[in-house]
Amino acid sequence: MDLNYYEYLKLDQLLQLQEPRSAPPEHDEMLFIVIHQVYELWFKLLLHELEGIRVHFSDNDLYAAIAGFKRVRTVMKTLVGQLDILETMTPMSFSGFRERLETASGFQSVQYRELEFILGYKRSELARSLPAGSPGRLRLEERLRERSVVDHFYDFLAQRGVAIPTALRQRDVTLGAVPDPAVQDEIYRLYQEQPDVAILLELMTDFDEGQQEWRYRHVKVTERTIGNKIGTGGSSGVDFLKGTLFKSFFADLWAVRHRF
Ligand code: HEM
Repeated sequence: MDLNYYEYLKLDQLLQLQEPRSAPPEHDEMLFIVIHQVYELWFKLLLHELEGIRVHFSDNDLYAAIAGFKRVRTVMKTLVGQLDILETMTPMSFSGFRERLETASGFQSVQYRELEFILGYKRSELARSLPAGSPGRLRLEERLRERSVVDHFYDFLAQRGVAIPTALRQRDVTLGAVPDPAVQDEIYRLYQEQPDVAILLELMTDFDEGQQEWRYRHVKVTERTIGNKIGTGGSSGVDFLKGTLFKSFFADLWAVRHRF
């Protein structure tokens, strides 16, 4: 039999994965499950695209990197926009099934941490907080050891004539990326001398701004839905999330903007 739509996309399996837990059923639990699953699928795509971008950087393939960042930036805008849908759920409705989540929380999203790690925001304690040998911990440990998008960005810059400081080249890649004044000087120069590279740098900035918008919108969704209640993951909730705002992945790009 010819391959059909259902088989190619494994829809029989996919559409059986939404299992609301509330009894009697709470209408909005389906939305809550679907939206989180959709986010995880987008996270999967983002990881795939960022893996591709790392290769494009090391290959000095500017146009492929531009195309890659155009895509991830657009996905990020979609991630932000989708929170509008979740905001149609009232606090009253959420409290009808929130207990069913028990200790489940987005804080436990391994793919979200993988995204942070691949983008150079590495925190080994987050990997260690998962049970030793569990698939999630193994994935995060792998991501810790991998060179991040920022490390591959240095490869790209080096091929554009930038002298990357030895300390950056030889740094322990399991640690988070750090801003560097020498790299910033060179980024400023590239902005002025290589307009095609400037397009890439602006797209990277769009993406980085987008992920910060997501963090802000997530705080507001949380605040309007649970107020100052503590999180199901055990954190202080909104106050904890406020502490995650304004984290940029490409700090060097933000550091030069006042110079123009
Ligand atoms: C009504 C909707 C939501 C509420 C009330 C909410 C609440 C929270 C809270 C309170 C935390 C802090 C950890 C904890 O104690 O649980 C958190 C973390 C998190 N949530 Fe949500 N959330 C909502 C929707 C979402 C959605 C749709 C996603 C998409 C995947 C998401 C992903 C995350 C992630 C990734 C974290 C970890 C953030 C970090 O550590 O920087 N959340 N959420």
